Amino acid sequence: MTPTPLYAFICLLSLTGTTRGHGHGMDVIKVVVAEGNDAILPCSPSTKENMEAKLFDWKKDGQKEVFMYDAGQHYNNDLSGQDEQFSGRISHFQEQLKFGNTSIIIQNTTMADSGNYTCAFPRLKPKAETFYIELVVELTLKDRAGVVSGASPRPYVSICNITDDGVQLKCELHGAFPEPMVQWQDSDGNTLRAEEPVVSVRGGRYSVILRTTVSTTRTNCFHCVAKQEKIGHAVDAEITVPKKLFEDKPCHVTSVFIGGWFSGVLTLAAAQALFVGVRYIINRRKKDPDQKSSSSCPSAKPLNSNSV
Ligand SMILES: *[C@@H]1O[C@H](CO)[C@@H](O)[C@H](O)[C@H]1NC(C)=O
Ligand SMILES: *[C@@H]1O[C@H](CO)[C@@H](O)[C@H](O)[C@H]1NC(C)=O
Repeated sequence: MTPTPLYAFICLLSLTGTTRGHGHGMDVIKVVVAEGNDAILPCSPSTKENMEAKLFDWKKDGQKEVFMYDAGQHYNNDLSGQDEQFSGRISHFQEQLKFGNTSIIIQNTTMADSGNYTCAFPRLKPKAETFYIELVVELTLKDRAGVVSGASPRPYVSICNITDDGVQLKCELHGAFPEPMVQWQDSDGNTLRAEEPVVSVRGGRYSVILRTTVSTTRTNCFHCVAKQEKIGHAVDAEITVPKKLFEDKPCHVTSVFIGGWFSGVLTLAAAQALFVGVRYIINRRKKDPDQKSSSSCPSAKPLNSNSV
């Protein structure tokens, strides 16, 4: 490893916290929780009256049914209609209802639980009430030493193919939030042309695969950089492409040969030459380890989060 200031990217996440703020002129309670932990969303009618025989309804983002309680019936017993995302993960404080405490717990939070929740008392007298709670689930990625690091894991870079056009490099990044912008760069920090990134989302986290094809350049050291501008994070991984890979042209050899086959000029000697040639290429490729991210890259400029 180069002494890349990995720890410059580390963002220390507060584990849980509750703050009050004003959003759209109304009181919004903000709850921050680390992913995987349980979140308590607080709520209580202003009357603080006994709610055991009353109705309260929790929703997410104005539409998803999170938890409804109606005089002892609720989503964990007789009531149906709960959004699948929350099935089996919500509980309330039955003993606290008589004090007007209609808070809920969301177990095992994921990024997808982040959002704006409402806690409504539609039948409250003298007047219905609704409370607003914003839940922010933060990533807790740990590196191998168990240190909580930033909001994106380091990309994984590899050589995935050698074609007539050059060496195809692949950068993979799994489980980032918010969505990262992924780029291939040369060692001077110039952005390289790449294919369309392949982006997928699972549990509110983003995975990105970005391929590029490089041919001989002044340098054979390349970086895959993942930036999350919103939160000022950047992580990168580097790969050194062995210079001789730029000389291998297996596709070219094969296509010339297939052409020869179909034009009927294939001779036994040529077949033997192909066999020897292919074996040579295979052997050469076996000796080149695919993953070179740990090799040194002396001219690389260390990135830091301030560059975002
Ligand atoms: C409701 O009760 C729970 C469990 O005792 C407690 O943690 C929470 O702070 C209470 N919330 C309110 C709004 O009273
Ligand atoms: C909650 O709503 C506010 C205002 O519409 C929005 O800015 C914020 O991003 C939302 N929070 C989440 C976690 O979606």
